[in-house]
Amino acid sequence: MRFYIETFGCQMNKLDSEVLSGLLEGAGLSPSDSPEDADVVLVNTCSVREHAEQRVLERLRRLARWKRERPGRILGVVGCMAQRMGWELLTDVPHLDLVAGPDSYNKLPDVLERRDLPVALVEQDGELYEGVEPRREGGVRAWVAIMRGCDNFCSYCIVPYVRGRERSRPHRSVVAEVEELARESYKDVTLLGQNVNSYCDGEVDFAGLLRLVDRAGVPRVRFLTSHPKDLSEEVLRAMAECPSLCEHLHLPIQSGSDRVLQLMRRSYTVERYIRIVEEARGLILDISITTDILVGFPGETEEDFERTLEVIRYVQFDDAYMYRYSPRPGTLAAQFPDDVPEEEKLRRLDEVIRLQREITWRVNERLVGSEVEVLIEAPAKRDGMLGRTRTDKPVVVRGEGLKVGDFVKVRVTGTTGPTLLGGETALP
Ligand code: SAH
Ligand code: SF4
Ligand code: F3S
Repeated sequence: MRFYIETFGCQMNKLDSEVLSGLLEGAGLSPSDSPEDADVVLVNTCSVREHAEQRVLERLRRLARWKRERPGRILGVVGCMAQRMGWELLTDVPHLDLVAGPDSYNKLPDVLERRDLPVALVEQDGELYEGVEPRREGGVRAWVAIMRGCDNFCSYCIVPYVRGRERSRPHRSVVAEVEELARESYKDVTLLGQNVNSYCDGEVDFAGLLRLVDRAGVPRVRFLTSHPKDLSEEVLRAMAECPSLCEHLHLPIQSGSDRVLQLMRRSYTVERYIRIVEEARGLILDISITTDILVGFPGETEEDFERTLEVIRYVQFDDAYMYRYSPRPGTLAAQFPDDVPEEEKLRRLDEVIRLQREITWRVNERLVGSEVEVLIEAPAKRDGMLGRTRTDKPVVVRGEGLKVGDFVKVRVTGTTGPTLLGGETALP
């Protein structure tokens, strides 16, 4: 039996697809390069915004033909939307055979073999997938889950419902996995969790874990995502002191209005957020700080929105992911009136995007003339190679004989906005 997995959503979902591939391959199924050659197609889905779900439904409609083309083919939905909708999804999409939430992947090989279909697997049992080796693409970057689930229940967010309670992997198994990645010559590892700062396996906290992973032998280590309410000074110190820990912090602020932050149940104020940024910039030279912004939350006034613009201008983020609020069924905020009109949400979104674009351009423009360390990751679209700085900025590097996996010193000569341009500097 051959399988093919399509992935929507965040990095955790991409990693879950690798975990799922590892599991299925371990059970004797073989991966396929396209749906055409596959007997099983699994769509790994995201529920974070309505739009994300609509894209999945659209994709499933298109897969109806694939399913009809050959008898015996199996179409499944896994991931967050599977968890959120369960059996309802099987009713809504008649050509669907299988629905499996993020905790149920261990059961899939058996279900596929026996063809117990249709089936909805949505039990949440705190699964950590210990001992499952993700089937990674290979290359220079790898992702490692250090924890799963989320207990924060930010009022707009579906993640705690679909991903279940927060639990951390034992630090020894995280470190062993990173050591193995070092042996396989991975050069850049990202530790993943919905709120990595609250990592705790009963013995080691997140700052402690970072110090252990630093010695695992991978030259670059980073992590996603930090929550301002739990980011400790010890974590910033570990970043400052450990050579492998990259100078990049993704720290979602969501809003610049304390009133809105409170309605969002984020448990920090703008003042506290700014204090963390200042501390980070004081301790870690040339740190890059990126964020998430959510506009059009219920009750967000023009004045609240102005505060968001103000904080963006004040902090001067290196970059930001920006979204307009989308009510998610079952969350606390879904009970609030969704009272910012759609055109107004779009206008606000457009305004933050324009502002941030300008800031990203200006911040990167300041790097022109400086020298940065670049890890080469792939050939560029046109000339040269594409790599990344330690601060996670993409760089197009001109130069002869560069190979994927090389570390090179690059003189920045320009920027297109988010991407830096440069050439290899002469080796010492
Ligand atoms: N655990 C991470 C990621 C959460 S989802 C964190 O806490 O940051 C990533 C981003 O999606 C969030 O930071 C938020 O900006 C956005 N988001 C979450 N729920 C949303 C919703 N209902 N509508 C629009 N954007 C949302
Ligand atoms: Fe969602 Fe908040 Fe958890 Fe992030 S910390 S996943 S925004 S509930
Ligand atoms: Fe990720 Fe979307 Fe699930 S953001 S955790 S795939 S709801």
